[in-house]
Amino acid sequence: MIAIDGPSASGKGTVAQLVARALGFHYLDSGALYRLVALAAARQGVDLDDADALAAVAAGLSARFEAGEVWLNGAQVTAAIRTEATSVASSRVAAVPGVRAALLDRQRAFRQPPGLVAEGRDMGSVVFPDARLKVFLTATPEARAERRYKQLNDKGIAANIRTLLLDLRARDARDEARAVAPLRAAPGARRLDTTDMTAMEAAQTVLSWMREASD
Ligand code: DC
Repeated sequence: MIAIDGPSASGKGTVAQLVARALGFHYLDSGALYRLVALAAARQGVDLDDADALAAVAAGLSARFEAGEVWLNGAQVTAAIRTEATSVASSRVAAVPGVRAALLDRQRAFRQPPGLVAEGRDMGSVVFPDARLKVFLTATPEARAERRYKQLNDKGIAANIRTLLLDLRARDARDEARAVAPLRAAPGARRLDTTDMTAMEAAQTVLSWMREASD
């Protein structure tokens, strides 16, 4: 079990997928679950201030991950969960304790042989506290904004780097300040600053730490 946590655009998604592929392990993008709850709530007309209703949406979530695609109630939502509106809503949904509790077992069910690489904010601290290896990925806000800018550019989406930087800082502040499972390195997590690293270099570092942890 490898737990990789860190702020948005720290590269944890890419790194976690590279590590999972190299080891032949399963992969969990836990942020996608919060995004799915936010999208399901929007589609059901649930108010983002109604904590009980949001927890009920999370408990009843009918979602599937298959070959890089994400499905909600039988509809393909791979792109829909990545929109800016869903990003903002997911960060609010993630602050609701009942939502986090409702998603715990669903996340733990991904832990199957031969192993799992899970990425998010609380993989090492809450969901998989007994992970063999815990990694906390960081990068400067400027480096992360630049990565996000390039990703959007590659998809043909216009973006403003200053706005992206402000958005990232606002999201960090909200994820770090929330009362339940705030974004912070778990005890025993190894920190990796990826500011001057490629995703491949970061993945190689994690793989070398995994070899050390397995010795
Ligand atoms: O990693 P992401 O940007 O897809 O995550 C979407 C939101 O969900 C983000 O605001 C943080 C939150 N999240 C969380 O609280 N706990 C996790 N394990 C993963 C994501």
